[in-house]
Amino acid sequence: MSAATDTGTAGIAADISTLEEQISAAIAGAADEAALEALRVSAIGKKGSVSELLKRLGAMTPEERQLNGPLINGLKTRVQEAIGTRRETLKSAALEARLAQERVDVSMPVREAAIAQGRVHPVSQVMDELTAIFADLGFTVAEGPHIETDHNNFTALNIPEDHPARQEMDTFYFEPREDGSRRLLRTHTSPVQIRTMMSQEPPIRIIAPGRVFRCDYDQTHTPMFHQVEGLVIDKSAHLGNLKWVLEEFLKAFFEVPNVTMRFRASHFPFTEPSMEVDIRCTRVGDELRIGEGEDWLEILGCGMVHPNVLRNVDLDPAVYQGFAWGIGIDRIAMLKYGIPDLRTFFASDLRWLRHYGFAALDMPSLAGGLSK
Ligand code: DAH
Repeated sequence: MSAATDTGTAGIAADISTLEEQISAAIAGAADEAALEALRVSAIGKKGSVSELLKRLGAMTPEERQLNGPLINGLKTRVQEAIGTRRETLKSAALEARLAQERVDVSMPVREAAIAQGRVHPVSQVMDELTAIFADLGFTVAEGPHIETDHNNFTALNIPEDHPARQEMDTFYFEPREDGSRRLLRTHTSPVQIRTMMSQEPPIRIIAPGRVFRCDYDQTHTPMFHQVEGLVIDKSAHLGNLKWVLEEFLKAFFEVPNVTMRFRASHFPFTEPSMEVDIRCTRVGDELRIGEGEDWLEILGCGMVHPNVLRNVDLDPAVYQGFAWGIGIDRIAMLKYGIPDLRTFFASDLRWLRHYGFAALDMPSLAGGLSK
C-alpha cells in the first residue's frame, strides 16, 4: 500500500476504502471456488492485505488504535461476508452446470451380470447332456484317472503285449519304473470298465465320460479329446438291450423323434461280437440333419463284453454277461452344434466360446430341455 508508512487516521481510512474497492472487485470477478479461495488467503489470510493493515495498529497511539481498530476489523468482517456470499453463488452455479451436463440415458442397455457373461464349453455342455440322459435310464457316472497302468488300459481289456491295437493307439508313455512297469496317459475311457468291475458287484450300469490322450493332430484329431464309455453287466444283459439303450440315447441327445441305426460288424479286443453303429443323416446345404435321410454317419463302437475281460476282473462269464460302448464326445458335440474344426475346441479363444458356448445356469435336463 502506498500509505504503508502513514499511520494517521485519514491515511488508514483512505487505505481501507481503496483496499475494499479492490477486494470487492476481485471477489465479484472470481470465476470459481478455487480462485475465490486464493483471494481469501491474499486478503484475510495470515499475510493477507487486510491482516497487514491490522498489524499497523501496533505502531499507533492508544487513541489512534481505538479509532482505527474498529475500522479495519469492520473491513475484515465485510470481506469475510462478501467472500461467503460469493462462494454460495459459485457453488450453486457449479451445481447447475454439472446437472445440465450430466444426463442419464435411461434407454441405454444395462451391462450384463458376470454370471450371464460366462459361457459353458460345448464339451462340458455335452457331458451334462449325456449325464442327464443316462441318469434318466438308471446309469451312474464312474470316473478313473488320466494316468493309467498298462494293465488297465490294455492287458485287462484283452489287449495283450504284442497286440497290434497297442500300436494303433499312439500311446503317450511315461518313463518305465524300477520294476519295469510303465504308466501311460489313458488312450480311451475303457479302463474305467476294469476299475468299475473290480470295485463294484453286478448289476452294473455306468457311464464314464472323460479325457483321453493319443499322439495325433489334424482337423479331426487332437492329442487330448473326450470319450464317454458305457457299461452294463448283469446276468441277462443282451444285444437287444444294447440296441434299445443306444437308440434311446441317440434320440434324446440329437433331440429328434427317430433315429435309424445300422450295426456293422467290427473288431475291438474287449468285445465279442463287436460292432460300429452308423445313423441315418442328410446334408441340406451346410446343415447336417440327423436321424433320417440317405447318408450314414459313423457314431460309436460297441459290443458284448468279451469273456476274457470278465475273467480278468474275476467275474464268471458263465454267470455274468454285459455290453459296452464308446463314443467320442467332441465328435458328437461337433455334429450336434455344427462346429467344423475340432482344434478350435482347445484353442481357448474367447470369441469362439462366446459363439459356441452355453449359458451358465441352463443345466440340461430331460424335463426342461437339453439344449434350449
Ligand atoms: N475304446 C474304444 C476306442 O477308443 C471305443 C469302444 C469301442 C469302447 C467298443 C467300447 C466298446 O466300450 O465296446 O476306440
